[in-house]
Amino acid sequence: MSNADIIDGKAFAEGLRGRVAELAASFEQAAGRKAGLAVVLVGEDPASEIYVRNKGKQTIACGMESMEHRLPADTPETDLLALVEQLNSDPAVDGILVQLPLPDHMDEQKVIATINPDKDVDGFHVISAGRLAVGQKGFVACTPLGCLMLLKDRLGDLSGLDAVVIGRSNIVGKPMAQLLLRENCTVTIAHSRTKDLPEVVRRADIVVAAVGRAEMVKGDWVKPGATVIDVGMNRLPPTEDKPKGKLVGDVDFAEVSQVAGAVTPVPGGVGPMTIAVLLRNTIVAAHRNAGLELAEDAI
Ligand code: GUN
Repeated sequence: MSNADIIDGKAFAEGLRGRVAELAASFEQAAGRKAGLAVVLVGEDPASEIYVRNKGKQTIACGMESMEHRLPADTPETDLLALVEQLNSDPAVDGILVQLPLPDHMDEQKVIATINPDKDVDGFHVISAGRLAVGQKGFVACTPLGCLMLLKDRLGDLSGLDAVVIGRSNIVGKPMAQLLLRENCTVTIAHSRTKDLPEVVRRADIVVAAVGRAEMVKGDWVKPGATVIDVGMNRLPPTEDKPKGKLVGDVDFAEVSQVAGAVTPVPGGVGPMTIAVLLRNTIVAAHRNAGLELAEDAI
């Protein structure tokens, strides 16, 4: 089998940010203010610091306002809840994102449940999950929505295709399955207890791997010509020339790219989509919260 096409998530994300920037400019004209995204970071987790910095930079680059709230790791939970309530009632704030993970003394579900679902641009609130499940307008978690955008860009209509999602997390696997179902795919959710996983994956026209196990999906698991989306971000053990360990996905890229029709690389595939979709969700939230029309297919 010939080599798969490489799905360029970095380029797609750049295009999406460009479309967000256009909508952000017209929003500012119409509303008389910039769309605003509030990001809350508790503590000093280094990975979270990097995410939050990148989110802030890209929000500003798209012509929206970034409001960052940094709280010390020992902040009482009640103070964080009070901040979220304040952001809920602030009309300049269209989207609220509380960076996860939170320190151990905080209840993440309780904090997320405090966010106004109409500002839940992360799509983590149970109301957002419920809206997705029953087909109401709401916000969808950024990573799975980004995966769906890449799939539709590649395949067009997904109706009738067999899709296998490997992983059942609340933030990727389950919403991914809901999105694919909404697109009329026949959806299987596979997980650590699935019997004969390679056989299940071989049935799929679309594979989304989101398990967090380095290079687990092998070439002989994949139907020739299938489209493979790799959500994984894993580090291999350090070596001389890669002292931090090579960054790899959940898919054995060298093998799968010999068999698949198209595959996302790691890095440069799904990764860049997450923040771009967050900005997309924020500009959609801004229009809805300001009562401004935004066509269903505007972005
Ligand atoms: N931590 C890592 N990724 C994310 C994300 O997309 N949203 C939030 N809130 N926290 C994260």
